[in-house]
Amino acid sequence: MPGAPPAGIPVPPDGRLEPAALDRLGTVPLGIYVHVPFCATRCGYCDFNTYTAAELGGGGSRDSYAGLAVEEVRLARRVLGAAAPPVSTVFFGGGTPTLLPPGDLARILGAIEAEFGLAAGAEVTTEANPDSVDLRSLARLREAGFTRISLGMQSSAEHVLRVLDRSHTPGRPRQAVAWARSAGFAQVSLDLIYGTPGESAADWERSVRSAIDAGPDHVSAYALIVEDGTRLAARIGRGELDPPDDDEMADRYLAADDLFTAAGLGWYEISNWAAGPGSACRHNLLYWTGANWWGAGPGAHSHVGGTRWWNVRHPAAYAGRVTAGLSPGQAGEVLTGGQRATERIMLETRLAAGCPVSALGPAGRRAAAAAVADGLAEPDAFGAGRIVLTRSGRLLADAVVRGLTG
Ligand SMILES: C[S@@+](CC[C@H](N)C(=O)[O-])C[C@H]1O[C@@H](n2cnc3c(N)ncnc32)[C@H](O)[C@@H]1O
Ligand code: SF4
Repeated sequence: MPGAPPAGIPVPPDGRLEPAALDRLGTVPLGIYVHVPFCATRCGYCDFNTYTAAELGGGGSRDSYAGLAVEEVRLARRVLGAAAPPVSTVFFGGGTPTLLPPGDLARILGAIEAEFGLAAGAEVTTEANPDSVDLRSLARLREAGFTRISLGMQSSAEHVLRVLDRSHTPGRPRQAVAWARSAGFAQVSLDLIYGTPGESAADWERSVRSAIDAGPDHVSAYALIVEDGTRLAARIGRGELDPPDDDEMADRYLAADDLFTAAGLGWYEISNWAAGPGSACRHNLLYWTGANWWGAGPGAHSHVGGTRWWNVRHPAAYAGRVTAGLSPGQAGEVLTGGQRATERIMLETRLAAGCPVSALGPAGRRAAAAAVADGLAEPDAFGAGRIVLTRSGRLLADAVVRGLTG
């Protein structure tokens, strides 16, 4: 199970926010994230806040979940009040949101629309395991107002999928993309993972090509993280599997970047590529640019005007709080100006649009000049007042960002 969230200040029982947090509410885009904490089986590498039926053990059921999420959406409306703008983006993530019947997802989306309204052209995404959708369910989601599907593909190599404990066949993601297109989805994304033990360079290249051939307009490619407490970590610990190798990871990243770029998918965030600006995930951009979002559901995090809070993690605890008419918020924190400035640098430096040099302090500016001299940041962008990572810079992003925030 994942670790406990950081301690913080208690959230009031009615979820009320300090007036200062609501100051600029109407002028900043608002997104809503809905966490759906259920999976059919748990993949051995995953430590997300998600539960199989066996793990739930009768506490917090899938059947009652939509009603609880609707209650939290109503709470959000009460807390944010009349100044809340229509919602620009909605993102159902998990877990596996598509384990719920499409009617449940439609009901939650309907409540968001009824309480807040959706901005013109709002982006409405759901994540999906390729095994958990078919043409019919995708058509129902499209009818309900979903505009974007993000499918977990991970790999096209059968032996890699087996190490990851994925339930789908190598061909299923491609089929799911085709169904999504037939159902009328203009925006379809695939997630890939590289660096799985036993994955060769050729396996990875085939996976990337197969993802491109499926015809998504967006891809995310993540380096495998060996999370403590997972089955994968235990297998590596016992010596059954090799741990990921940093140099190989870097090679895999560059190979993917070459193939995606050649296929017309350009990077816009270190782990994300899109067919054009209209294909970028606007909801994730809202996180990365410090906008406001309300996260509904067990363990979901929210941020409004510099106040951040997180919900109780277990679905049974969440159900108990929401059913009693209480905020499910477990704890929160008010970010200082310095913390907000540091977070901005950390997030915006990962974007192809980069981070303004004006956001850096004196030590950060010196580090930025050094990054340019070392070939890690683009000289032209620096001349124009922005830090934009080069390809080598993307590989060393964490170290560059540490310097910039120093
Ligand atoms: C919530 S899942 C996507 C939807 C669905 N649950 C699925 O897995 O098909 C989000 C994504 O996070 C990524 N992910 C999860 N755990 C990871 C880990 N330990 N290392 C790298 N990527 C991970 C996977 O690529 C996964 O597709
Ligand atoms: S299906 Fe997705 S959320 Fe569920 S365990 Fe696997 S990677 Fe994690």
